[in-house]
Amino acid sequence: MTIRFVLNGKPVEVEAPAERRAVDLLREDLGLIGTKEGCGGGECGACSILVDGVTRLSCLMLAAQLQGRDITTVEGLGTAEAPHPIQTALAECGAVQCGFCTPGMAVTAAGFLAGNPSPDRQAIREGLSGNLCRCTGYQKIIDAVESAALAMQAKPAMQEDE
Ligand code: FES
Ligand code: FES
Repeated sequence: MTIRFVLNGKPVEVEAPAERRAVDLLREDLGLIGTKEGCGGGECGACSILVDGVTRLSCLMLAAQLQGRDITTVEGLGTAEAPHPIQTALAECGAVQCGFCTPGMAVTAAGFLAGNPSPDRQAIREGLSGNLCRCTGYQKIIDAVESAALAMQAKPAMQEDE
């Protein structure tokens, strides 16, 4: 079938079997390998993407479910020159070790922060509870989300001052 959707701000059209997994469509057909597959069964969050701004697990989605949607992968969060605040914070807080969980963490945190601009640590823990990390012990990831929230709160005020 022909699947049309918006991917990281740009319209795309791709031919794929309706039952192809979204994670495979993104990684193999469209080359967006930032999205990772850990468990393949909805347990780890490494494959998280935003679908119309809401975090979804692309290993559990079918290609047909992307039809007409607005999809953001980690590649669409920010660039090396203009990273999303959560990408900056994950790096600055030392919240990345092997890095395998990081794209999914970043995407989930970005979606979480969009709806929860000033979360406390418990809310952050709950917001990221579907994303597993085998390396960091989570504290630095929570630090990073807290730091990104503060940076995102400060930015509009700075722009008003300019
Ligand atoms: S790969 Fe999708 S939840 Fe683990
Ligand atoms: S940094 Fe290795 S799994 Fe999270």
